[in-house]
Amino acid sequence: MRSTLKATGLAGVMVLVAISLAGLAAAERGEGGDGNAKGDNLEHLMKSMEKGLNAIKKDVKDEKQQARMLQLVAQFEKDVLTAKGIIPGRIARKTGDEKDKAIAEYRGMMSNVLRQALDLEDSISENKPDEALKVIDQIVEIEKQGHKEFRPKEH
Ligand code: HEM
Repeated sequence: MRSTLKATGLAGVMVLVAISLAGLAAAERGEGGDGNAKGDNLEHLMKSMEKGLNAIKKDVKDEKQQARMLQLVAQFEKDVLTAKGIIPGRIARKTGDEKDKAIAEYRGMMSNVLRQALDLEDSISENKPDEALKVIDQIVEIEKQGHKEFRPKEH
């Protein structure tokens, strides 16, 4: 009986350790904790943003696809807004003023992407594909800057 209790206690401790380690790993990836929305994953959102932009770029000149383009751009806007609320791992590891500054800069860049996404939506609604493609180029410029500053080096 006593050894069963001991074994149960040990299993409990192991589960707790496993949960804590998973939490640490999640924080590294920029999920959960530290003001981040639970359940959101920056890597997943960024991949979704990439997929959406590429799909828009490919078919935006086809007027018959306007409704689909509007759906894609709406999803892109949601992804950007959600990503804006997540603190990337590279920033989460900073401290003090440096961290506050990096968070403000990250959010500012994401706001700029969101503004461009709204312009992209307008140009699609107004059937102006050339304008839409120009806006996408501007978004890609912000993307390059954002990745230079905030994306993990190993990528
Ligand atoms: C607007 C267009 C953007 C697109 C399409 C985009 C796309 C991507 C993609 C495909 C990844 C790699 C995901 C993976 O496979 O690991 C990524 C990662 C990342 N991007 Fe972006 N990105 C954009 C803008 C930005 C901006 C503006 C910032 C910062 C201000 C940013 C910060 C990051 C960070 C921190 C990661 C690493 C995420 C992680 O793995 O935790 N991105 N992005």
